[in-house]
Amino acid sequence: MSADTFEQVVARVVEFRSALAGTEVSGDALTVSFCGLGEPLLHSSIAAYVGRFRSMGLPVVLSSNASLLDESRGQALVDAGLTHAFLNVGATEANYEELYGLPFATTRDNVVRFRELAANRCRISVVVIDHDGDADAASDAVGYWRSLGLTVSVWGLINRGGSLPVEHMRYRDFAEVSDANSMLRDRFPDGPACAVPQRFHFVGWNGQHYLCSSDWEKRSSHGHVSNTSFAEAAASKLRAAQSREPVCASCTHDPTNRLATAIRDGDPRSTEEIVGDIAEDVADASTLAALGVAMSTQPRRRIPVRSTDTTGVNTCTERVIGHGEQSRVSGAGTMTSTW
Ligand SMILES: C[S@@+](CC[C@H](N)C(=O)[O-])C[C@H]1O[C@@H](n2cnc3c(N)ncnc32)[C@H](O)[C@@H]1O
Ligand code: SF4
Repeated sequence: MSADTFEQVVARVVEFRSALAGTEVSGDALTVSFCGLGEPLLHSSIAAYVGRFRSMGLPVVLSSNASLLDESRGQALVDAGLTHAFLNVGATEANYEELYGLPFATTRDNVVRFRELAANRCRISVVVIDHDGDADAASDAVGYWRSLGLTVSVWGLINRGGSLPVEHMRYRDFAEVSDANSMLRDRFPDGPACAVPQRFHFVGWNGQHYLCSSDWEKRSSHGHVSNTSFAEAAASKLRAAQSREPVCASCTHDPTNRLATAIRDGDPRSTEEIVGDIAEDVADASTLAALGVAMSTQPRRRIPVRSTDTTGVNTCTERVIGHGEQSRVSGAGTMTSTW
């Protein structure tokens, strides 16, 4: 992300924080997250970008694969005031090298050194994804990092809006989807929209608002930070999530797909209980209404701020109310998930 685009994002965050101040959602609930579809440590200004948001009083989290987390980058991030680092190292030794194509010893040394540098100034969570439902493989990695004194989070696999082909997540082929959608539409007549875009306001490296970090192929675009506010983008994203196209109908997080999966898998809970659980993660327009964004089929007039973009890091700007949100998004079960 170029410095110009970054400053446009900052301006939009300031605007969004003020807009939220008049609503039931406090602007204090904002967290900025550098994560999503790329590796933030590839960007030479990442520590400066972290520091910029920290100087505005916002918590900043970052997700990294830790392969570039050498001493100088680690020290710069800690000095910039990084709040929480999610280090995605979900395997060890030869498994890691096969899965990630990176040398394990370097990454391990980076994680261990960063823990020392961070001490009590920055939280660290090592993230392990249960990639193929192989609990033993996941638990090897979990045990390894815990034995080194690190906190580990295990997240369930998602299919990134259908971009990652996972056999048991081919939702467009599920016969149960139609019934599931009718059942949810009884309760949500405008369409059972996934709440992720309302909770996590996602901006790509080029300053474009994208639906969410599951839109891996960036098929659902909602204006640029130079001419579109977070609230306006959120309204446009809500319409996309309600329609379930072009991405949600293929995605693990989509409420209809979650209900279809529960029916298909013979979830032993009552339908009421399952729907009640899923309903927690269905978007409504109340926050948007409080922000003065009327839901209509016509896009609102866009107010320009400044221009340009070049290359850089992906930035995910989230309205996060703590990472506990992730477990609600991932639905039933003990694992949390990415979004
Ligand atoms: C996509 S990564 C990008 C940021 C950074 N390059 C990294 O590796 O952490 C962001 C997070 O998504 C998680 N993740 C990646 N693919 C996933 C998948 N298919 N299902 C669930 N989580 C996934 C990773 O564990 C990581 O914590
Ligand atoms: S279902 Fe949710 S997480 Fe998945 S693509 Fe749609 S908005 Fe994103």
